[in-house]
Amino acid sequence: MTFKPANNIQDLQYFGEFGGVNPSISDASTYTFLSAKKMFDTFEGHAEGCYLYSRHSSPSNLYLGKALAAMEGTETATVTASGMGAITAVLLQLCGSDNHIISSRTIYGGTYAFLKNFIPRFNVETSFVDITKLDVVESAITKNTKVIFCESVSNPLLEVADIRRLSKIAKKYGLKLVVDNTFSPLSISPAKLGADVVIHSLTKFINGASDTVAGVICGTQEFIDDLRNVHDGACMLLGSTMDSLRSASVLKNLRTLHIRMKQHSYNANYLAHKFENDGIKTVYPGLESHPGHELIKSMMNKEYGFGGMLTIDVGSLEKADELMELMQEKNLGYLAVSLGFYKTLFSAPGTSTSSEIPEEEQEKMGLSDGLVRFSIGLDADIKRTYKKMRTCMEQLHILESQLETI
Ligand SMILES: Cc1ncc(COP(=O)(O)O)c(C=O)c1O
Repeated sequence: MTFKPANNIQDLQYFGEFGGVNPSISDASTYTFLSAKKMFDTFEGHAEGCYLYSRHSSPSNLYLGKALAAMEGTETATVTASGMGAITAVLLQLCGSDNHIISSRTIYGGTYAFLKNFIPRFNVETSFVDITKLDVVESAITKNTKVIFCESVSNPLLEVADIRRLSKIAKKYGLKLVVDNTFSPLSISPAKLGADVVIHSLTKFINGASDTVAGVICGTQEFIDDLRNVHDGACMLLGSTMDSLRSASVLKNLRTLHIRMKQHSYNANYLAHKFENDGIKTVYPGLESHPGHELIKSMMNKEYGFGGMLTIDVGSLEKADELMELMQEKNLGYLAVSLGFYKTLFSAPGTSTSSEIPEEEQEKMGLSDGLVRFSIGLDADIKRTYKKMRTCMEQLHILESQLETI
């Protein structure tokens, strides 16, 4: 049977404290106990349904976690104050001194910087590999390896990871497969394909309003309990806790995610095909020319499409900058990092979101200077948007004007 993540969200039912259709927001950092014994039991983790302190858990955060677990098909989930708060907590929970991580080399710059520059302080080393080459992944495994980390669709190069086969490798060697699914919510359900832990930066498509920073970790009850453990849990002790007011607002936005993802995907797919037809080097998983096209088709929940992210290469950083400035001037979107907004966002990853990655590494992974990353918006009339974008490209001689070519 196919997995229906949006149905799982739709089927959740809420009754607020006063019969409200939304759950009441828990406006407290700490909670009372009627007996000292109950407080002790709660600290020891033996009191089901009791709240202790909101860094540990709060009703609002549990509601959001439950909805996201339903979306990903995992036993449970815990929300965090940011996507990085989720990623760092998971990796620090799973790895200790002398452990080793295998990571895709094309990942979000912040995750890359954490693995490359920060976690080695704790004697955790990372091998960055081409995640699409499964033999390379397998041969990088050592006796100290604990984790394989990848993004389902990678930032910014949109490489597609073969989650089913990576999971087989992980299981064979007793490793945990951790997948960041930020670029492909609803379209890809990594846990259903064998991932052990699924992470999102909720900041992006899931919240979809560019008004907050947030994250989530979806996994087994046992792993999430470990993360929240008062004695040695990374979420509890590192403290990247989401605020209840925020989690209530993210939950409300989550309910329209399925409609938004369809529109993001429809628009991105339209533009990608047009740009490619125009002769611009375009990367989009929905294009047949994309090396991961067949793979993503074999993994995705089809109704949500190939996602809202695409890249084009306009040849040089100078051209990329000119194009982005002109498109902003023409109100086609914003020159801004991040993704998942109702307006298109564009940035040049080499000098922004991936600037943590050294230049020679960027070159090796095919992250060229002229790359422009687009998070395509919810534009109601994408044909009109395309025409305006094309005019910008003609004005900057990225494309020859149609008049001139006749
Ligand atoms: C794929 C991916 N994962 C994680 C993050 C980090 O998320 P946050 O900014 O919410 O900490 C980002 C941010 O850009 C991202 O693109």
